[in-house]
Amino acid sequence: MEKLLIEGGAPLKGRVKISGAKNAVLPIIAATLLGEEKESVLEEVPGLCDVKTISEIIESVGAKVRYNAENETLTVDATNLIATEAPTDLVRKMRASFLIIGPLLTRYGKAKISLPGGCAIGTRPIDLHLKGFEALGAKIEIGHGFISVTAPNGLVGNRIYLDFPSVGATENILMAAATAKGETYLENPAEEPEIVDLANFLNVMGAKIRGAGTNLIKITGVERLRGENYTIIPDRIEAGTYMLAAAMTKGDVFIENAIREHLKPVIAKLKDAGASLEESINGIRVYASGDLKSVDIKTMPYPGFPTDMQAQFMAMLAISKGKGQVIETVFENRFMHVEELRRMGANITVNERCAEVVGVEKLKASRVKATDLRAGAAMVLAALVADGVTEITALHHIDRGYHNLVEKLISLGAKIKRIEE
Ligand code: EPZ
Repeated sequence: MEKLLIEGGAPLKGRVKISGAKNAVLPIIAATLLGEEKESVLEEVPGLCDVKTISEIIESVGAKVRYNAENETLTVDATNLIATEAPTDLVRKMRASFLIIGPLLTRYGKAKISLPGGCAIGTRPIDLHLKGFEALGAKIEIGHGFISVTAPNGLVGNRIYLDFPSVGATENILMAAATAKGETYLENPAEEPEIVDLANFLNVMGAKIRGAGTNLIKITGVERLRGENYTIIPDRIEAGTYMLAAAMTKGDVFIENAIREHLKPVIAKLKDAGASLEESINGIRVYASGDLKSVDIKTMPYPGFPTDMQAQFMAMLAISKGKGQVIETVFENRFMHVEELRRMGANITVNERCAEVVGVEKLKASRVKATDLRAGAAMVLAALVADGVTEITALHHIDRGYHNLVEKLISLGAKIKRIEE
């Protein structure tokens, strides 16, 4: 087992390049399964564990996958798939595995997969995915931990309303409806930038999708899709995490590739907290000299404040001046980082989905663990400003979403190393 050792106190300075977005590249890799002719070549694909996992999953149904870490390019040839069922051990590693159902269902009329594991942040049901598949004419069978989806007569377009703008359900339905017969209208879909990126890739492959990023998406089914080349958008959550690191350490960092359009709530809250930001076409400069002020956060589906930045902001509030309130409305159990922050001296009171954080002068180094991906990022941020050397374990969570974290932080002047436990 490895652990991070981080000595707090160094202001981060310099520039960091943001990698391709994890939550865009995972559905887009699943979508490559729709490429019946030609291979797809994806650029700006970060070398994340989750990318490796979903690559292994599409390989298990017959896709040929090559990843070039040098130029961060992933090539997928899905012209001859051999199966419509993925192995359980792989699927249970990552909830996003469920995203292969939509492509397999619309291309082969069937798909079988073990029920995706929940994870630390909540039960993570799939009812909205299934509602979409059924609305398109599929039959669902659930038994013995497996789920089998079949559409022997193919899928037919329909009007689908999502009770909650679920990101995964929106993505699965877009991929299933892409070659369904007729038109599909998806109401109350997720509007995240990653949805737009997936729709753009599907349209490059030959799909007819209009309205991604708004509250109504129209999909006109086409005969078949072909593999194509595509470049993944930068990761707004990785960008937001480094923006916070710059502000918390009273540093001065240029976040190259950060897209301000994708980060409006994070930018607004950082400005409210007293950080200085300069937004330009190829990135965002974040700098701060004095202490930050507490702010209130309420997570919402996009374009609201992103739940994936909640833990990181809580780390900032732990050392901000005043009291900040954090309300988590998207997931029912996304405060696992509170206990770990308390171990470093944070003053946090939790009442159901609301946490009150009273800023303290200094956090104290401690031995803490990453309980999930973004909680792990929050612990790194807390360690960067704590007194002493903090040890962080369970790094596999962090490796899922932060490519070259240690290298990037060292290049900004952080005192961090990764060693064997
Ligand atoms: C995606 O997860 C992201 N993951 C998550 O990022 C992100 O937090 C989440 O969207 C919300 O923005 C990827 O894109 C791979 P949801 P997803 O379906 O699709 C409920 C990270 O840190 N729900 O929008 O699983 C669900 O229980 C990860 O990068 C249903 O009730 O999120 C949850 O409470 C964490 N029924 C809420 O909706 C369903 O059928 C949001 O889930 C589906 C979801």
